[in-house]
Amino acid sequence: MSDRDYRGLGDIIVTARPFDEYVAMFDLTEADLLAGPVLDCPAGASGFAGGARALGADVTAVDPEYADPHDDLMRRARRDTEAGNRYVRENAHAYAAWTFFRDEDDHLARRMGALDVFDADRRAHPDRYVAGALPNLPFDDGAFRLVVSSHLMFVYPDHFGYADHLRYAQELARVATHEVRMFPLVDTTTVRWPDLPRLMDDLAASGVACEVRRVGYEFIKNGDEMLVLRPG
Ligand SMILES: C[S@@+](CC[C@H](N)C(=O)[O-])C[C@H]1O[C@@H](n2cnc3c(N)ncnc32)[C@H](O)[C@@H]1O
Repeated sequence: MSDRDYRGLGDIIVTARPFDEYVAMFDLTEADLLAGPVLDCPAGASGFAGGARALGADVTAVDPEYADPHDDLMRRARRDTEAGNRYVRENAHAYAAWTFFRDEDDHLARRMGALDVFDADRRAHPDRYVAGALPNLPFDDGAFRLVVSSHLMFVYPDHFGYADHLRYAQELARVATHEVRMFPLVDTTTVRWPDLPRLMDDLAASGVACEVRRVGYEFIKNGDEMLVLRPG
């Protein structure tokens, strides 16, 4: 628990973001997706893997919730998607611009659409949805060219401390050969994670180069940057 008086979303929810939201958050090109194996960690109930696979990508999704029966996870993800949408409606001041989503109804509809993509892709490719958790992912060193990681680290300061963030980032870098992209760098109260400079210094000292890159997507206020790690 951080010492800041945090009043955000609270529990870690299982969200369902559509493929095109991932593309915007991580500034992804088709070349990024097709250049080699891609890992989404944590993938939650997102439609990213399904969308990327449809383009021809070799993509794996990992999340601790995949240990549960699929129908239970679908029920939870539906409930959590509704909770996330309620949070957006009740905290309008925290949301910057309705450029990606048209409005709150569009937000809910597209997240629910992502859930359907997740459901169909996981049923068709169950082996590509792997149960696992940071900081001990069940993959070999350098198993993926690109790793994308959204809405876990930096977003839940009441769940993870500095040491967790460092171990999680090092673990993501361990399984990547080219890049790890992490988004966003703010929590659900729009505050940028205060230990980011220290994390970047510690990662650099362990041989992982880091860079903050602005992206052309902002939904939660101040959430228009990703952290890019380049494993040594
Ligand atoms: C807010 S969701 C993000 C899912 C997806 N990346 C997205 O943006 O929609 C957070 C996810 O983190 C997963 N999670 C919680 N603790 C984790 C851990 N230690 N390692 C990996 N994933 C974890 C949860 O199960 C949940 O699905």
